[in-house]
Amino acid sequence: MEITYYPDPFLRKLADPIDKITPAVLKTLDEMIEFMYVANGSGGVGLAAPQIGLSKRLLVMDPSSREDEKIKKPLFFINPVITHVSKEEVEYEEGCLSLPDIFAPVTRPEACIVKYLDRKGQEKTIEADGFLARVIQHELDHLDGKLFIDYLSPLRKQMVGKKLKLLEKIYKEKN
Ligand code: NI
Repeated sequence: MEITYYPDPFLRKLADPIDKITPAVLKTLDEMIEFMYVANGSGGVGLAAPQIGLSKRLLVMDPSSREDEKIKKPLFFINPVITHVSKEEVEYEEGCLSLPDIFAPVTRPEACIVKYLDRKGQEKTIEADGFLARVIQHELDHLDGKLFIDYLSPLRKQMVGKKLKLLEKIYKEKN
């Protein structure tokens, strides 16, 4: 498993829904969460399938691992959909495994409601706020080809401009 880095166009694709939860899908989720825990050293608390080169609507996350690496409360989302967002918005610093070393404050709704299928194919709903709502919104964006840098004001985008250029250069050299 390898991280897909910005500016790989794969990150801009609309990911496909899962139509059947097969053992292979569950295995992918397990591999994704293990991979994310390893990548946690670089700050990852969530991972979307497109970030490992898989254009599927799958997310894994564990916001608790930010507080304490030993506490593991993995969350798995299959075909997640945000059905409601709060009017109240908050600013919070975001980073992304696909954009190493880049951090910037992003304004998003403070709370959201997300519907998804769990590993057994049962429809679940989470009302999330705070950090969990933040991670859910960030990760779900990956399924729609969006990155957190898309939300930055021109000034803030300029502030991370050098680092973006560097990632673009590295990508060009590899491809
Ligand atoms: Ni991300």
